[in-house]
Amino acid sequence: MRISIIGCGYVGLVTGGCLAAVGHRVTCMDSDGERVRGLMGGHIPIYEPHLDELVAAARGEGRIEFVGDIRLAVENADAIFICVGTPPLENGEADLSAIEMVARGIATQSRGSKLVIEKSTVPVRTGEQLRRALQVYGRASDARFQVVSNPEFLREGSSVCDFLHPDRIVVGVDEPPAAEKMREIYRPILERNFNCPVHRGACPPSDAPHFVVTSINSSELIKHASNSFLALKISYANQLADLCERLGGDIEEVTRAMGMDPRIGPQFLRAGIGFGGFCFPKDIQAFYRLAERAGVDFMLLKEAERINKERIDHFLEKAKRALWVLKGKQVAVLGLAFKPHTDDTRFAPALEIIRRLLAEGASVHAYDPQAMRKTQALYPAVHYCLDAYESATGADALLLLTEWPEFVELDWKRIHGLMVRPLLLDGRNLLVPAKMRELGFEYHSVGRPD
Ligand code: UDX
Repeated sequence: MRISIIGCGYVGLVTGGCLAAVGHRVTCMDSDGERVRGLMGGHIPIYEPHLDELVAAARGEGRIEFVGDIRLAVENADAIFICVGTPPLENGEADLSAIEMVARGIATQSRGSKLVIEKSTVPVRTGEQLRRALQVYGRASDARFQVVSNPEFLREGSSVCDFLHPDRIVVGVDEPPAAEKMREIYRPILERNFNCPVHRGACPPSDAPHFVVTSINSSELIKHASNSFLALKISYANQLADLCERLGGDIEEVTRAMGMDPRIGPQFLRAGIGFGGFCFPKDIQAFYRLAERAGVDFMLLKEAERINKERIDHFLEKAKRALWVLKGKQVAVLGLAFKPHTDDTRFAPALEIIRRLLAEGASVHAYDPQAMRKTQALYPAVHYCLDAYESATGADALLLLTEWPEFVELDWKRIHGLMVRPLLLDGRNLLVPAKMRELGFEYHSVGRPD
């Protein structure tokens, strides 16, 4: 089956790269000519573990190509994945204009039968609109479209692995033959019958993925419902952390024991400075706006969002309590990305913290293993350092804002010696409090006894 991907952002590149890696021939299209030229020259515009080697291998074997013209992506394709962005509008609803534009392009350039798959995160009922747009704009051609919803559950930083070893593949369809075509596309992954470029023949044992066929509306709901539930879980842990701080308790001890109950599970209970990234903050908002329009007041989600926003205030209050005055202080920041193993800083809590530190007159000396280039354009006033040691040199406080594993391995004794005042605020509960205090740090974290 010939597959095309429209939109070479993070989801499009991972989808295209992985489908090529399991044996399909894939054409990836983007309207950004510079991006396409870069991709043709082997430049992957995002940092995502394994993606560059996967795409390079597929290019070498002639299984992936990049084009800037939608006609080239559509004319020979049997299945077209729409992976364009759906950023939030001012009112929190998803902006679907890119999807509509792509639908028009597909409709006018298609001949014959096409499977059109929405991979972008969209509100429920987008499939209906997509089908209508394809019919309206494609009325002059002989094309026939089957619309499918196929939400992605990829986590940045481990998305290649998530794509190749999913726990479930959800496909929302109107007609059973469309589900069969989707099964065909995912067959190598469902049967685990491919050379895994991540584990190189030594994939960890896991159950075969579920192939879940639903209606299109249910499938669209599943994506928003899953992300919002995970965000709720994080906010629950964060509010518990507040309680631990007030009443004396250790959030790590509490969530560890909670997570041992299989009905609760251990994941997404890590307290800290809150969730960021391009999915949770926008998805939770888009979901309660959608509910509102349907006459349902999804207060639970609004509360989760409020609790998340409060994280930054709480964290900065702690910093201020310890530092007294921020103006004129030199603050080291370790971690800019919204989570480790990515260079993505969209809606990263670290950036909001930096914005407020600068606004209060502090000078910020930052280091992140991957995300500095992307932050530089937004915050030119920050001093970007070569490593964690340079950022700590002369600092009145060090804020740890992304839990990169390599930060655990730092020579903290050396950092202690480099700082003017050894004040350490760990926004991700990455370090061991007793160890840090033993080294002489004044150490504060989230929901753990000071
Ligand atoms: C998320 C979903 O996990 C994925 O299924 C979906 O397709 C896209 O959105 P992603 O945004 O890449 O993935 O990151 P994720 O690992 O889910 O983390 C989101 C945010 O929550 C990060 O800022 C992370 O630091 C934070 N988080 C996560 C916590 O604060 N505590 C936790 O316990 C887990």
